[in-house]
Amino acid sequence: MKLYDVYPINEIEIKKAQGSYVWDENNKQYLDLYGGHAVISIGHSHPHYVKRVTDQLDQVGFYSNSVKIPLQEKLAEKLGQVSGKLDYQLFLCNSGAEANENALKLASFYTGRKKVIAFKGAFHGRTSLAVAVTDNPKIVAPINQTENVVFLPHNDEAALETAFQSYGNEIAAVIIEGIQGVGGIIPASIAFLQKIRSLCDQYNAVYIADSVQCGYGRTGQFYAHDYAGVQADIYSMAKGMGNGFPVAGISIAPKFSPWHGQLGTTFGGNHLACAAALAVLEVIEQDNLLQNAEQIGNYLISELKKFQEVKEVRGRGLMIGIDLPDSLAHVKKELLWKYQIFTGEAKPNVIRLLPALNITQSHADQFLNAFHQLVK
Ligand SMILES: Cc1ncc(COP(=O)(O)O)c(C=O)c1O
Repeated sequence: MKLYDVYPINEIEIKKAQGSYVWDENNKQYLDLYGGHAVISIGHSHPHYVKRVTDQLDQVGFYSNSVKIPLQEKLAEKLGQVSGKLDYQLFLCNSGAEANENALKLASFYTGRKKVIAFKGAFHGRTSLAVAVTDNPKIVAPINQTENVVFLPHNDEAALETAFQSYGNEIAAVIIEGIQGVGGIIPASIAFLQKIRSLCDQYNAVYIADSVQCGYGRTGQFYAHDYAGVQADIYSMAKGMGNGFPVAGISIAPKFSPWHGQLGTTFGGNHLACAAALAVLEVIEQDNLLQNAEQIGNYLISELKKFQEVKEVRGRGLMIGIDLPDSLAHVKKELLWKYQIFTGEAKPNVIRLLPALNITQSHADQFLNAFHQLVK
């Protein structure tokens, strides 16, 4: 059997990974500033993580949500503490798309409404509702098309106000990334997020903060949206949550009331997933990784802004977009092949930095030196 070929890949096989480095089949070392797409939050093969996951596997790896799983409560408690949302409720699932799918479903149950506002440039995943609120017609199959989703210009307060004035009583939810990732590292403005909050309050709609990529401490705040100083009703999270173990969730405001069967999943919240997620939060807390993300992120951003060759540097903390002119379109590939540095990309010429939250200044300098050589 062949693989169903949907991924353009780099011809590299990773054989070993430790901290912010990975090694290929020829034992060549690479600096990983991509983290397998913002997934590696506490560094590859972190010893506390490896121990917690293997110890758990020695006891029980999986049982379904038909029995008590006290690790889920421990995880909810720790997440409440670290994220500062002590009174929120946690529903566990398996991927970012599934988290958004459940968030949208919950918003619709809660309001009894169907319409969702999403924004130009948004990416929320590939399952049916998640892809319907994603602004990329190429990946929306005919069966995912719906009249229920309205795309508005990003960061346009007047357009949002007009939409609410026209059909506010039909709107179940507004869904927005704190910083658009796939869209090219475009932060939602603070004023825009505040406007979403106040319009959702006024019209009793649900504010969904897609924190799948920008959340989990990456920007220095646990949720990037919280820079706006207002709370979302539901935060979806995934990538950094399990440091590579597939685990996701939604953090749900106290006003939502669950009933048995309202949401559900076979694998979500299993023992191994909870052990992985707890290990991540313990390391984030013990090693002050939110502070490190902010500090090293600020350093990278300020150094990158000194390059006159760069069109724009966007982002916060360790979610950074380096927008390059066409003449420097080759830089991303050369970082990988000449300097052995993994970075991410967004189109057309944006390099995305999404490293582990515990990278050091010397990792940052290794990248800045290579970048300097390539753009000068
Ligand atoms: C902002 C955002 N939301 C949702 C998703 C979907 O997550 P997953 O691939 O785990 O389904 C992604 C993935 O890139 C994302 O960046």
